Order: sequence, then C-alpha cells, then structure tokens
Amino acid sequence: MKVTKTVEETRKLVKAWKQEGKSIGLVPTMGFLHEGHASLIRRCREENDIVVVSDFVNPTQFGPNEDLEAYPRDFKRDSELCESLGADLIFNPEPEEMYHDPHAFVSIDLLSETLCGKTRPIHFKGVCTVVSKLFHIVTPDKAYFGQKDAQQLAIIRKMVQDLNFDIQIVGCPIVREEDGLAKSSRNTYLNTEERKAALCLSKALRRGMDVIHPQADASEVLGEMRAIIEAEPLARIDYVSMVDALTMQPVEKVEKDVLVAMAVYIGKTRLIDNFSYEV
Ligand code: PAF
Repeated sequence: MKVTKTVEETRKLVKAWKQEGKSIGLVPTMGFLHEGHASLIRRCREENDIVVVSDFVNPTQFGPNEDLEAYPRDFKRDSELCESLGADLIFNPEPEEMYHDPHAFVSIDLLSETLCGKTRPIHFKGVCTVVSKLFHIVTPDKAYFGQKDAQQLAIIRKMVQDLNFDIQIVGCPIVREEDGLAKSSRNTYLNTEERKAALCLSKALRRGMDVIHPQADASEVLGEMRAIIEAEPLARIDYVSMVDALTMQPVEKVEKDVLVAMAVYIGKTRLIDNFSYEV
C-alpha cells in the first residue's frame, strides 16, 4: 500500500493505474477510522480494481468554535487498518497542501440550510469544497459515503449531478455498536455515563420506525421520538426533524420518501443519527 502527501504524487499514481485500464474507487475520510469506515473500504475493495482512501481532517468544514483541534487522529492505526483491508493508496495531505488562501469554495445552498446546516452554517460548504477537490485529484469511478451522514450524502449526490462529475456515488448503511449506538469517531469523546445516555438516540429512532406510516403527521412521529430523548437528563436536542429525502426540506406529512434525522448533544458531544422511510 502506498501513502501520498501531495496532489502531484497522487495524480501520478492514479494516471498510471488509469493507463493500465484499472477502475478507481475512493473512500473519503477524516481518519480515526472505525468499523463504519471499514465497511466502506470493504465495499470499495469488492467493486474496484484500485482502492484509494483519503485521510484528511478538513479544516474548512469546522466552524470557529468546533472541535477541529480536538478531532481524534491516529494515522498509524488508520494506515494499518487500510492495509489490512487491501487498500492500494492512502492520500494524507497537510492542510497547506490542500488550501492556499484565498481559495474557491463549492456550495450547494438549499440542501445545506436545514438540519445540521442550521447549527453548522459553513459545514457543508467545506465538505463540498474538499470532496470536489478530492474528486478532481483522484478522479474515481465510484466514491463511497456512509448513510449516517445522510444530509452530506444527499448534498454530494446533488453536487455530482449539478456539476456533472462523472462519478457514481455509493451510499452505504449505518454501522452500529451491538447496543445500537451508531459508530462515530466522536463517540470517543463520551465518558461512561454519557456513553449509556447516548443510547437515547437509537431508542428514539426505533420508536420513530415503529410509529411512522404513509400519511403519518411528522409532528406525531417526531413528538414520540423527542419524548424519549427528553427523558434522558444528559441529552439536549439540537434537532429532530423529518425532511424530503431529496431536497432536505421539512415535511408535515409522510407523502413521499423522507429522512428522519436528529442531532443531539450528550454532554458537550454532538451526535447524529437517522433513518430513511420510503412510501
Ligand atoms: O464524512 C466525512 O468524514 C467528511 O465529511 C468527508 C466526506 C471525508 C469530507 O471531509
């Protein structure tokens, strides 16, 4: 497995693979890899000749008071995991390699304004910018993203369509701990008590899945879910919402495919989770 730090050396390798007629799959990550990332890398391994993993904590997607500095990093462990999963290349640039100020941004506005975009106004602009850059650098045939970041996945699909990237976006299912908590690099911030409290997210989701039905009122479904989270003293709701699965705009009734998504603070840690419902 190769490790590159610069755009130039990454492009050189990719060019040589393409000249040999090989298909390229990309798994964009911010490192500190867990089983959720591993599932993306495995799927990418099955479906492509070459597997590229990017490992880059992208500064432009963090707001001024967010956890950029504290974000967990362990490149040695990441590279061992990638190697064991059969990746061919990890692209691990420094921020100075990716950004030269002032630089251009990419944004997909409407979809970025709801859900996480309300509390994290610059987040998706940073995500779209770095993912566009990675797409231009690696020029993959397919790119793999987790359904846990469902809004991110919807925005990237829209970006690929709007900007005519010739890349197939593959969404992969949420990977959970045995007790239901969705895997996340941020779970490492939780202490023992908070880790137990965090189960209110998946409990609320299960309740939502039980009560949702075609023509259901969003307020009824969301009310049931909120009640479970509000009963947990360490939890504070950022949002629990139902939106159109494609536009990410709030809906009042289940009339089309919807995304039911939540962000909840457990202590200081903000966790997200969701489920999709097709009518
Ligand atoms: O989902 C993530 O880890 C990040 O948002 C991504 C897509 C790697 C962009 O930095």
